[in-house]
Amino acid sequence: MLQSARRRIDLLLGRRTEFAPPQPPPPADAQALRDDLERWLAGTPERYGRTFLHAKPLFVTRPERGLFARLENYGLVERLGPSIYQPRVRLFPLYGRFIATDLLTHGTPDQVFSLMFEQVYLVRNMDVQAGDRVLELCLGSGVNSLFAADAAAAVTGVDINERALAFARFNEALAPAVVPIEQVHGSLYEPLEGERTFDLILVNPPFELVPEDETWFLHSDGGEDGLDVVRRLLATTPGRLAPGGRFEIITWSPGSPDGPLLVDLMREGLPGMRLTVHVLDVQPIDAHLETFKDRPGFDAFRARLSAQQLDEVYFLFVHAAPTATPGVEVVTPEAEVQACRALAGAWL
Ligand SMILES: C[S@@+](CC[C@H](N)C(=O)[O-])C[C@H]1O[C@@H](n2cnc3c(N)ncnc32)[C@H](O)[C@@H]1O
Repeated sequence: MLQSARRRIDLLLGRRTEFAPPQPPPPADAQALRDDLERWLAGTPERYGRTFLHAKPLFVTRPERGLFARLENYGLVERLGPSIYQPRVRLFPLYGRFIATDLLTHGTPDQVFSLMFEQVYLVRNMDVQAGDRVLELCLGSGVNSLFAADAAAAVTGVDINERALAFARFNEALAPAVVPIEQVHGSLYEPLEGERTFDLILVNPPFELVPEDETWFLHSDGGEDGLDVVRRLLATTPGRLAPGGRFEIITWSPGSPDGPLLVDLMREGLPGMRLTVHVLDVQPIDAHLETFKDRPGFDAFRARLSAQQLDEVYFLFVHAAPTATPGVEVVTPEAEVQACRALAGAWL
């Protein structure tokens, strides 16, 4: 009762939004819509950013009216008054595409994950080769798969969240890739036929450290050490790789003085593989627990992490490939990290 009253107040005040996913444009209009968005972004980047990155209502000028009527038609904006529109999505420009995700005020667990550094890093560094059959687990908005599908022979994306799949359909319709993405609804490998294997498996899994009993976003709930989903998927990854198949993951991992837990899990889970570990950032673990620090049970949660000597959190991209010389190679790609930060920083 109290919760539903609070929800209604938040909706009225705009602190919370509950918009339906955008509607995919028909092929005949997709290119023109993209061109118009591109022109608007190039002409008035601050108005674009205010609307589609910072989610502020916009007083639309006469020349913008035609574009906004079309954006409204596809559910990307909502008309509040004669010339005032509010965005219903975030819309990230990336290498000629516009990727729609949820507003940060979409407060239910099915919120579709925004773009940030990790998508830029994955898009620029994923090892997609011509002829590859690619699987992306945890598809989200579809951003990584769309770029993979410009180079691969086939791409399949799995997500547990139907809302994410609806956004991925919109994003694909707005800027289709060379091959279409096969979308599958379900958890990790479960919805795929047992014998299906892939040349490249990509994943940017939920990775936040979340106390047990907490209801959190599907896109970020990684369990107490942030690695629950990773453990589950690694258990069956070897059986899903075709001969010579590669596996790539970008995620945060807690670590002890012995190093990041993710690397231990991957060494155990992917025997016979060479792991190339890109260290993208390292932060004190408390910086990642801020959100929950006032919740009941936080101290016990924090103590459980301390008992495992988990004091830091590593931001990692790991490329795993079969080799005659299994082992771990660590790299710190500083110039690439700077380049990705600069690109993603423009969205802040
Ligand atoms: C961190 S987001 C990444 C989304 C997308 N790959 C990207 O890079 O933007 C994680 C995604 O995993 C999905 N997810 C969470 N648990 C899952 C599961 N068990 N199986 C499949 N997808 C899952 C969420 O719905 C969310 O879309």
